[in-house]
Amino acid sequence: MKPALHILLALMGSLSACRGQVTEGAPIVVERNMYDQEKYNPQAYSPFFADHGAMRPPVVGAVPQDRFEEDESVATGVLSDATGYVMTIPEAVVARSRGGMAPMVQRGRERFDIYCATCHGRTGDGASLVARAGFPKLPKLDDARVCTMPDGQLYATIANGVRNMPPYAAQLDVDDRWAVVAYVRALELNQISQGGSPR
Ligand code: HEC
Repeated sequence: MKPALHILLALMGSLSACRGQVTEGAPIVVERNMYDQEKYNPQAYSPFFADHGAMRPPVVGAVPQDRFEEDESVATGVLSDATGYVMTIPEAVVARSRGGMAPMVQRGRERFDIYCATCHGRTGDGASLVARAGFPKLPKLDDARVCTMPDGQLYATIANGVRNMPPYAAQLDVDDRWAVVAYVRALELNQISQGGSPR
């Protein structure tokens, strides 16, 4: 037998001798590393903070790094001089969508089907389970009103919600919101080509 195997067997033998023993001490761990470090577990109590929670909420106004959008009009859908909404989907967003508009619309479709179709229906016609269950009146997304609103206003509706519609900023990051805008425009064009509302 190789010497390394002897050592291993001896080690295993010495460990098995501990089995079944009851102890109040720390468990035997061959490689201790950070096993016994002082730490808080999730949702644990902390005497240090006023609310006695070890987990801290993010500082008010904090933005996760992957959600930071430098261009304010891209982030809000509102023109930088605050005179109105951005008229069309920003070029910068299309440019960084890796493949341009086509994959963006596809992404928008996925997100729409997950987050919007529940209420607005998969074609945006407002026929959904939620609507049938008695949710406040849902507009058709190919209404002349929605068709003619600037893309930035549609974006802001998604980001901030409007009247009875809740905001979807937490679920959809900046690029996903614009992608959904692109898809809603595609839905509208499709409805119009089938004789829907004029744009
Ligand atoms: C929980 C249900 C619900 C979901 C989910 C929802 N909406 Fe709405 N949405 C509404 C309601 C209700 C209204 C009508 C608001 C009102 O007039 O009170 C509305 C209105 C709108 C309007 C018209 C706004 C206007 O100014 O007239 C647009 C556009 C819209 N939604 C897009 C979206 C998109 C895009 C999504 C997905 C990101 C979405 N909605 C998800 C309920 C929802």
